[in-house]
Amino acid sequence: MSTLHLVDHPMIQHKLTIMRQKDTSTKAFRELLNEISLLLGYEVTRDFPLTDKMIETPLQTMVGKEISGKKVAIVPILRAGLGMVDGLVTLIPVAKVGHIGLYRDETTHQPVFYYCKLPADIDQRFVIVSDPMLATGGSACDAISLLKDKGCTNIRMMCLVAAPEGIGRLQAEHPDVDIYTAAVDERLNENAYILPGLGDAGDRIFGTK
Ligand code: PRP
Ligand code: URA
Repeated sequence: MSTLHLVDHPMIQHKLTIMRQKDTSTKAFRELLNEISLLLGYEVTRDFPLTDKMIETPLQTMVGKEISGKKVAIVPILRAGLGMVDGLVTLIPVAKVGHIGLYRDETTHQPVFYYCKLPADIDQRFVIVSDPMLATGGSACDAISLLKDKGCTNIRMMCLVAAPEGIGRLQAEHPDVDIYTAAVDERLNENAYILPGLGDAGDRIFGTK
């Protein structure tokens, strides 16, 4: 069974509360998502392995530390996952970025695939899948299945708000994928939206409603 990491740092909770409010502007929503994404990324990378590195400071030599594990790929699920990329790239500037396009059918709530472009060496990389909303879990599960089909073996899921239904499904279908989220909300409504949630994340990031 994968681990659910609830990242409930006060700074994150404060920023998320602003994001949830219906009158928060697109500009503020986008900026806050960037900020929270960097902070979540800090936890996603917390156990990255380090090796010793001999360096010279202006005063003497010393043994410093450098990250020694796999290189990183960030894979946002379009559209809303894009809103988490800048924060992650600020934290991990050398990361490559792949894209998976999925949208939920409004009636069935099933994810519909429309785009995929990934780094050629994605199977050699530590992959962080980003999407602010984990609702039914269908989109995350499909994106992760696609990445596994490409040979990825080291995947983590980073979201902002998760529903118990989505967490359960992701843990059942992909028990090797740890989940990082800033909040676990109550439940889904009849349209498979998260309650209390923050509405449609893509629309709020891009101002399309
Ligand atoms: C939203 C969200 C996730 C998905 C979550 O995307 O960004 O990708 O729904 O729902 P699920 O867990 O039930 O699959 P949406 O389909 O609205 O597309 P968009 O990001 O392009 O707006
Ligand atoms: N997608 C969203 O953007 N919000 C939800 O609450 C559920 C799915």
